[in-house]
Amino acid sequence: MKYIEIKAPAKINIGLNIVEKRTDGFHNLETFFYPINDLYDTLTFELCSGFEFHCDQSELNNVTDNLVVKAIRILEKNAGRILPVKINLTKRIPTGAGLGGGSSDAAATLISLNELFRLNFSNEQLTEFALQLGSDVPFFLKAKPAIGRARGENLTHIDFEIPYHIVLVNSGIHVSTKQAFSEIHPTPSQIDYDEVFQSIDSFRQKKHLIVNDFENYVFLKHPEVKSIKEAFKDLNAEFTLMSGSGSTVYGFFKDENKIEELKRLLPDKYLYIASSPTP
Ligand code: C5P
Repeated sequence: MKYIEIKAPAKINIGLNIVEKRTDGFHNLETFFYPINDLYDTLTFELCSGFEFHCDQSELNNVTDNLVVKAIRILEKNAGRILPVKINLTKRIPTGAGLGGGSSDAAATLISLNELFRLNFSNEQLTEFALQLGSDVPFFLKAKPAIGRARGENLTHIDFEIPYHIVLVNSGIHVSTKQAFSEIHPTPSQIDYDEVFQSIDSFRQKKHLIVNDFENYVFLKHPEVKSIKEAFKDLNAEFTLMSGSGSTVYGFFKDENKIEELKRLLPDKYLYIASSPTP
């Protein structure tokens, strides 16, 4: 095999509680990661004689420390050899948006190069490398619905599917995750994630208790993000929340046409993405 093409999906956090600060500077958290397979970056990897990286978003091309390149360096260090490869990255997931785009690209790189170069790293080793790249990266190695604990790498996979249309709205505001964490006062979760996500019925009963601890900080700093959530509420979304440390806000609707109504309530320049439930 000389060539691999892979889709790197986005995620949303259905609930995000920052539980406590750790001695290593990170925070223990609880969240429910849910993949958005209709929104994805595409990566291609091709064996070649040197190293080439090209991204259709020119600002990412110049950043030598982007997560895809960092993933290759970690694999090279652990494999004890150079991995000559040509990489093409087509971005669709907005960056700095709480959708895990960079983390998903990094995980796709670990999986693909492990296969392309027959490196034989185990899942445990790949998870260790993933966590060195970022707290969300281990989730994307599998990208299936999961409760995330510790930094986000302690994953409990759950057979759980949202039976609604999911609409994501991004205003283009970038939030620094590091800064957002520094503004939060950690508190234990008010919900039992295992119970809430054990079934869709239990989610429906408990959904009003699900929060994202970053919302207050982001809404105060960027009132336009709060307005997006209010628009979802005005349209009677089944559920609405900000994802990650922001600034994307998503909502669940029974009716797929609600996206048009949202566009009438909110600025045209925002990015609107719809994802349908699996039939
Ligand atoms: O792990 P990642 O690189 O995504 O994290 C970015 C920053 O967010 C970290 O440097 C840290 O300050 C903060 N963070 C945290 N606890 C986590 C995840 C991230 O404090 N569980």
